[in-house]
Amino acid sequence: MTFLSPKTLSPSPFPLLPHKNPNTKPPYFHPRSLPTDTLCKSEYRTERGLEFDTGESFFRQESATGRDLGVLAASLHRKSNGCLRVLDAMCGCGIRSLRYLVEAEADFVLANDANEECRQGQDDYSEYFLDLIVYGVNTTYINNIYVAFYWLQFYPTFKSCVRLSGYRRVILANMWRVPRRGGSGEEEKRWAVTHFDADRLMTEYYLQREYFDLIDVDSFGSDSSYFRPAINALKWGGLLYFTSTDGYTSGGNRPYHSVASYGAYVCRVPYSNEVGLRKVIGGAVREASVLGYHVTPLFSYYSFHGPVFRVMLRLSRGMLPDKRHYGFIGYCKRCGHSQAFSWDELGGIDCPCDKSNVSGSLAVLGPLWTGPLHTTTYITEMLNLAEQWGWTNSGMGLDLEKLLRQMIDESHPGLPPGYIIMDEVAKRAKVNSPRIKTMMSSIHEEGYVACRSHIASNALKTNCPMAECVRIAKELNGAD
Ligand SMILES: C[S@@+](CC[C@H](N)C(=O)[O-])C[C@H]1O[C@@H](n2cnc3c(N)ncnc32)[C@H](O)[C@@H]1O
Repeated sequence: MTFLSPKTLSPSPFPLLPHKNPNTKPPYFHPRSLPTDTLCKSEYRTERGLEFDTGESFFRQESATGRDLGVLAASLHRKSNGCLRVLDAMCGCGIRSLRYLVEAEADFVLANDANEECRQGQDDYSEYFLDLIVYGVNTTYINNIYVAFYWLQFYPTFKSCVRLSGYRRVILANMWRVPRRGGSGEEEKRWAVTHFDADRLMTEYYLQREYFDLIDVDSFGSDSSYFRPAINALKWGGLLYFTSTDGYTSGGNRPYHSVASYGAYVCRVPYSNEVGLRKVIGGAVREASVLGYHVTPLFSYYSFHGPVFRVMLRLSRGMLPDKRHYGFIGYCKRCGHSQAFSWDELGGIDCPCDKSNVSGSLAVLGPLWTGPLHTTTYITEMLNLAEQWGWTNSGMGLDLEKLLRQMIDESHPGLPPGYIIMDEVAKRAKVNSPRIKTMMSSIHEEGYVACRSHIASNALKTNCPMAECVRIAKELNGAD
């Protein structure tokens, strides 16, 4: 594709007068010694045993679990499909790309980030020096050529062509840990680094009919413009890993902002962080259906830092098999009861607490994803793989195991959207908050489904109505 190729050097006849450069000693070539411009310093970290540099790119250690989940899902996809071409559309320093390559054994990863600093350096040639090493060219020759390029970047004529940008250097140095060529054919590239706007890049690939097996868009805020180009650039059966960090809108503070981004009206409810996940899935369901596809969540993960809402979706052909999974949620402010409504029930929705007067008490949100947040079989396989890789028996691993086990419980088909917070039950029952374990056992004894929510530690997901939960809490309080 033409936009991935470096530009040829300008044949300009202008005299090559050097700019004043305080750094008089060109470094010996090694990815780590690529010149750091004054804008970017190195900061080394380790994740799951892989060392990488974050430089001054946007990086959050707290997102490691989100990266673990992405890699596990990607690896399973690679095993079942025999191929894994990944687009890491907003790669930051490139740690995800590196992990998809090393841990999920991706056949090819395109690490892209449109950071302005990278953009300035997108025509640099450092990538090609790495290739020379892989081809076994004498490093002294490489160094000589590299030094020549290093100096050229200070000449006005060549500056835009050969500038070795700080951010780009960071991504390249991280990716370099995996040889750029190899795999099935020696000529096959394992990875590439680009700096384009993600939407544009995905559209270019779609137009070239080059599709990916997994597209990871780790975006900020409520941006949903990438849904359509990502779906277009994905293979059928491929995986989409989408992110939203807009907790303010998910919290019901900007209902029409959410309508604009995800086509869903979202107002305040006690389980707004679960609504945040359902809103993103629902937005993707809507975009996919326009193109004659549907998406199914393999897992949905809320993390309080940020906050971050992540969903891994599988794209399939045809319309949504179960129409009830894309609908509305009603929350009654008077009794605290929640229920899902389908489109054809919209005209007659009410709450069991007062069927005659619902207008003031019933909040209706949607359309959203109202089906299970995760696919039980996929999460179970992810847990098995995590155990196999030894990711469940370290300090960090315990958290991952607990999370995956909670997700398996949450994926029970009998569970409605939302969760019930213990403090709300206690407030309505006018008793002290019951212990969550005791409450869960009592709910089970009454024949309902109940489990803990990975989103809120003091909450239960259950199909037991709020009125029943209040009764159980009162009984438990009497028994204490
Ligand atoms: C949340 S950070 C990525 C973090 C990274 N995925 C990780 O796991 O460490 C988002 C990145 O997206 C980049 N970005 C923002 N808008 C973009 C766009 N429209 N196209 C491509 N990259 C973009 C930013 O420069 C930033 O590095």
